[in-house]
Amino acid sequence: MPEVLNRIKIAKSFGSASHSYDVSSRLQRYTGKKLMSFLPNRTDLTVVDLGSGTGFFTDILASKYQQTIGLDISTKMLSFAQEKRSKQIHWLEADAYHLPFQDNSIDVIYSNLVIQWCDPLDILVKEILRALKPGGLFIFSTLLDGTLHELKSSWAQVDDDKHVIDFKTAEQLTAILDNSSSRLLEHSKVDLVLEYENVIHLARELKGLGANHIPKQKGKGLAGKDKWQKMTESYQDFQEPSDIYPATYCVYSGLLVKLND
Ligand SMILES: C[S@@+](CC[C@H](N)C(=O)[O-])C[C@H]1O[C@@H](n2cnc3c(N)ncnc32)[C@H](O)[C@@H]1O
Repeated sequence: MPEVLNRIKIAKSFGSASHSYDVSSRLQRYTGKKLMSFLPNRTDLTVVDLGSGTGFFTDILASKYQQTIGLDISTKMLSFAQEKRSKQIHWLEADAYHLPFQDNSIDVIYSNLVIQWCDPLDILVKEILRALKPGGLFIFSTLLDGTLHELKSSWAQVDDDKHVIDFKTAEQLTAILDNSSSRLLEHSKVDLVLEYENVIHLARELKGLGANHIPKQKGKGLAGKDKWQKMTESYQDFQEPSDIYPATYCVYSGLLVKLND
């Protein structure tokens, strides 16, 4: 149940960012485009964009494939996407943990920077495999442990609350993905360092992406001004000679195939 409540809050957080998302999404644009190289050439396929957000990539998928579905848990993200994107796309409001698809019915599930929000991940992967046809593909990117380590360690100087979500290691991901039901055909890891003018710029970008929701910790309030000030002072340790503040994103991209039963 806490996981379900957490998903509702994630949906709200992303929903409130639906209008600022596209200008704050340089990382998502990069990783989503890289994933396109894993897409199959056949066009007579049913493709789902899982966690479609503002629908930027759903639009590209719809230009290639016979049937494209954009699925997201956030009503506001979906209304934004529906208004802006191709009228060929079918939009579905649903939780990735309860996909409204029959068993063995989908050819490709594409998902750009979504599954890092999904906990427990093994249950989600089971649901994705249930919906995919045997031989169907799950094409995804996610973030690994080490992501936002500058922000994490700057906060660690101030208090021991959680200010950045937990990301899985590559080994944990492989253990969940590569098993008797599915095989990881390809994967890659890359550390991207994005540059920010200051810590507020980073915080605004995370907020603009809706990526600022941390599961509620008992008895913890929001960080006050003093704590924020201390954290930004600690972040200065990472400041580059050019005065730029770096933030690292450890990106994992993968191509998974569902094996025959
Ligand atoms: C970082 S955005 C990525 C959006 C899009 N894939 C892109 O590349 O721009 C994450 C999206 O995943 C959606 N999301 C998060 N958890 C979800 C869940 N359990 N089920 C469906 N969508 C989810 C959010 O609402 C949000 O729109």
